[in-house]
Amino acid sequence: MIDVHAVIAIARQAGERIMQVYQQDFAVEQKGDNSPLTQADLQAHQHIVAGLNALTPGIPVLSEESAQADTAARMGWTRYWLVDPLDGTKEFIKKNGEFTVNIALIDAGVPVLGIVHAPALDLTWWGEQGKGASKAVGTGQGNYQVQAITVSAPPEGERPWRVVGSRSHGSADFDAFMQHLPGAELVAVGSSLKLCYVAEGKADLYPRLGLTSEWDTAAAQAVVEAAGGQVLTWPGLKPLRYNQNPDTLLNPHFMVCAMPHSQWAGDRAAQTGIVYEHRKNDSKAEVVWHNTQVTKAMRMASLKQNPCCIWFTGLSGSGKSTIANALELALYQAGHHTFMLDGDNVRHGLNKDLGMSDADRAENIRRVGEVAKLMVDGGLIVVTAFISPFRADRDQVRAMFAPGEFIEVFVDTPLEECERRDPKGLYLKAREGKIKDFTGIDSPYEAPEHPEFVLHTHQDTVSQCIERILPSLSARIKELA
Ligand code: ADX
Repeated sequence: MIDVHAVIAIARQAGERIMQVYQQDFAVEQKGDNSPLTQADLQAHQHIVAGLNALTPGIPVLSEESAQADTAARMGWTRYWLVDPLDGTKEFIKKNGEFTVNIALIDAGVPVLGIVHAPALDLTWWGEQGKGASKAVGTGQGNYQVQAITVSAPPEGERPWRVVGSRSHGSADFDAFMQHLPGAELVAVGSSLKLCYVAEGKADLYPRLGLTSEWDTAAAQAVVEAAGGQVLTWPGLKPLRYNQNPDTLLNPHFMVCAMPHSQWAGDRAAQTGIVYEHRKNDSKAEVVWHNTQVTKAMRMASLKQNPCCIWFTGLSGSGKSTIANALELALYQAGHHTFMLDGDNVRHGLNKDLGMSDADRAENIRRVGEVAKLMVDGGLIVVTAFISPFRADRDQVRAMFAPGEFIEVFVDTPLEECERRDPKGLYLKAREGKIKDFTGIDSPYEAPEHPEFVLHTHQDTVSQCIERILPSLSARIKELA
């Protein structure tokens, strides 16, 4: 468990170093190596890297100021700190105070913890996956007033949309977007504060129709999501993810919002079949989570295991259910407490109202994710076997869990092999046009980009596949905090 307050302290100390430089009387800067801007950046970078290394020695740190070698190594990382020591250089030079220190913890592409600190304003925002978001207002001499924050529901009736833009760049795309929102108010603010404004409900939308780097957005995205909001790629409307591309650290265009809304997302949300719900229970302010007296930690202690969700994904006929079943048996025989959720079975009961459209599959996976999460909170090792063809749906499930608790196993069996096996005769029917929307035939399968494990059932036997994953799973299950 990472102590969020220890990370906040590091961000604030970095802020103090920036302020020492900021308060010096400097003229508008040439961006030479010795400029105050560069000095402030570097000092904050060094302080944050040293602080995080001391706090979590095993977790690598990537910052805007990191050496090239770290940038090259990053594709091998699952969990790492992503840092922008000083975001808002224009604001720093203009001396309007709207610059920030940004520290995020990324786990499997998802920002699960984020701290945004604005030293000149003495304001700090932070958010932690599943634990809500907060804002601290400095009241002098290191004292702070802390409040829970939450995104604002989209406007209804007469209230205009409040849209965050930047003073420094407007664009034709931004102007075109604003046509969808007649009468909208423009809220101008600098740096990652733009996302924080949506997180705390001061603004409804932040369309970012220009480039940013991953360190500019990660911390504030964690705040937005913990406050019940979303940061979605535009126009795809999929959650913005990190460390997905070896060639670039640039983000795609994105939209920050409470949730997609027909007035601006239009047909796009309907076309993609993606419906992102507004998770009110992520926000401390609106719904108070009722803590039970018997806690997850107590259940873990009595079951003597560290629970997790082992999520098998792959084509129909790939061997998911067979391997998942064999794995559950092996875990059971080793004395662990397990439960298996299988696509064909769940579709007979809990999800019997769902078909095979993209939207129904998304709902299938969402429900299974929620059930698996409850079982993991109950202390169980949950093994699931669902095609789960869409990356965004699997990532949404991953995001429900604590770092390391969701273990994705990609059963990578080629389509030709699945079709050759055709254990239920379904591929034949799909080829004959008797079944529609069949995965791999006329419905897509999006392979995971960073699964924890990949299995090749056309090369390895079932027991060889189990041998590949069992040792590290057993070690993880036994490792109790
Ligand atoms: S998922 O896509 O929503 O994850 P799930 O794993 O629950 O699918 O169910 C897949 C099972 O449904 C397959 O094993 C197969 O038996 C059956 N099935 C029926 N129709 C289809 C279809 N159109 N595409 C894939 N599987 C189908």
